[in-house]
Amino acid sequence: MTEHIKSDVSVITIDGPSGTGKGTIAHMLAQTLNWHLLDSGALYRLVGVGAEKKGILLSNIKELVLFSLDMDVHFSRLFEGSIELNGEEVSNLIRQESSGELASLVAVIPEIRAALSERQLAFRQLPGLVADGRDMGTVIFPDATQKFFLTASPQERGERRYKQLINKGLNVNLRALLLDIAARDERDSQRAISPLVPAEDALLIDTTELSIDQVFEKVLTTSQQVLSKH
Ligand code: C5P
Repeated sequence: MTEHIKSDVSVITIDGPSGTGKGTIAHMLAQTLNWHLLDSGALYRLVGVGAEKKGILLSNIKELVLFSLDMDVHFSRLFEGSIELNGEEVSNLIRQESSGELASLVAVIPEIRAALSERQLAFRQLPGLVADGRDMGTVIFPDATQKFFLTASPQERGERRYKQLINKGLNVNLRALLLDIAARDERDSQRAISPLVPAEDALLIDTTELSIDQVFEKVLTTSQQVLSKH
């Protein structure tokens, strides 16, 4: 369980399943406000990928926890820019579907979630933080200044992800991708610890029929209104 430390630094949380555009929106918001950005999913991906590289079995929780606590991570400030894990550039590797799958397998382990929580809290620095993930508003930053939860139909999320991967030149099958997304949604929302659910005080935005610019407009306007009263 995350022990919550009170802080005066503002946080805006953007949670939701993959394919809702939350990574892009979080990045646009952090850039516009000139705030820090936490891509929490990348941390779970790094644990999954790093453990696999070192040959640590997912059943070896003690080694996994040590790895999560010790890993040396550097994020560039650019969106989908370089990410270094223990001195090695891994940004392309961690963006692969197989790494998302590994991430969701390590993300069900309570000890790993606990091991990563302090690292996530440390991102809360002036002038403010935009945090993107699954449990940012519910578990890591329950006192966030503003919380958003983005959704979209599974079909739409699958198609968006398909286009992204095709644009990267990867060979993917839409049907298989839709099945993978459904399996990952199920695992993320049914797990016992920190499941993917909206915080009670989150503003829900269904992005199925909206463009990225329309979603961003809504997120930015709401955030500015809240921050002006803060
Ligand atoms: O957001 P992204 O697709 O990079 O996340 C990869 C996986 O990491 C998710 O499917 C989820 O299982 C896990 N995750 C999580 N909690 C977060 C962020 C990601 O459990 N805050």
